[in-house]
Amino acid sequence: MWKLSIDLGSSVTKIYRADTSSGVVLAEPSCVAIAGEDREVKAIGKEAKNLIGKTAEYTSIIYPVYEGEIVDMRLAAAMLKEFFSRIGIKASALRRAQVLMSVPCGAPERLLSQYANLAEECGLKKVFFVEQPYLAAVGAGAVLSDSDPVFCLDIGGGVTNVAVVSADGIIAGVSMNIGGNNMDANILARVAKTNGLRIGALTAERLKNEIGSLAPTARGTMVAEGSSVESSRPAAASVQAAELADCIRVYIDKVLEYAGAVLRKLPAEVAATVNRNGVYLSGGVMKLPYLPQYIGAKLEMRYHVCEEPQFATVLGGGTVIRDKSLLDAFAKENE
Ligand SMILES: Nc1ncnc2c1ncn2[C@@H]1O[C@H](COP(=O)(O)OP(=O)(O)OP(=O)(O)O)[C@@H](O)[C@H]1O
Ligand SMILES: [Mg+2]
Repeated sequence: MWKLSIDLGSSVTKIYRADTSSGVVLAEPSCVAIAGEDREVKAIGKEAKNLIGKTAEYTSIIYPVYEGEIVDMRLAAAMLKEFFSRIGIKASALRRAQVLMSVPCGAPERLLSQYANLAEECGLKKVFFVEQPYLAAVGAGAVLSDSDPVFCLDIGGGVTNVAVVSADGIIAGVSMNIGGNNMDANILARVAKTNGLRIGALTAERLKNEIGSLAPTARGTMVAEGSSVESSRPAAASVQAAELADCIRVYIDKVLEYAGAVLRKLPAEVAATVNRNGVYLSGGVMKLPYLPQYIGAKLEMRYHVCEEPQFATVLGGGTVIRDKSLLDAFAKENE
């Protein structure tokens, strides 16, 4: 029987296979390209993302699950079904599969029933839902117990979650619509202003991911291509890592402000444990060089970050679905 953990991220959908040792079997952009008045699906995942900014007016790129909300059920189902077919699971196996899905922190009943509908639409029968911070904490290497609360911070493409969790529940937390997408948009605006170059969203993301860094001595440069703000003709410019750092840091500082507010509200014993154990960091943005160090220094605490922080949530899901006692403790089941 297949056992899957699924993380429907704002930017990237990840699927982990827990009944074999295959690990992460899919990581694809969570988007669909549609065309025409009847919104016909043209491409899904990588192929769809590649089209961003390059298509004619009648094609649009939709992220059907965004900031944890299912914004377009038909497209979300089309996307997830396609991803299932890409990992080679057949309809009959899907019906028998056990699946764990990450859901937003504090997801209300309305949202859970949307996720349940999506699962049903895709032919899944047995689905467990677990709130994201538990999974990120487990995936980032924390051990959850009643007595030892864990402080975790996940920065994804669309959402940042800050939470203090224990096996007993979420003690404190805040979820905000801040993430890598804001940084990309800020980079795009900055390059237009300082380099006189209009770039696309994909180029902005590439700049961040390839030379973005919070290291005090970051010196990388990258040639970006686009069109000249002045003449509108195709053009290129050399962008410095130090400029990108400013575009990134403003959002990190905002996140740290909220994290500080969460910490200030903790009961004294919980605060003491958090202070002793430090912060567990996850999410794709954590791959930025020196970001974990920056956060640790600002919060004045130890930090833990796993090797592939973008997979922490889906890996945590894999750990939970393999372990009956964790599943009983954290999961809500579809009926
Ligand atoms: N090497 C890298 N350096 C910096 N940022 C990166 C890197 N790789 C990926 N990212 C960014 O991480 C973000 C995606 O992270 P992640 O996969 O954790 O998000 P998600 O789970 O899809 O979204 P969310 O959790 O917000 O719903 C994107 O903004 C992406 O550009
Ligand atoms: Mg995520």
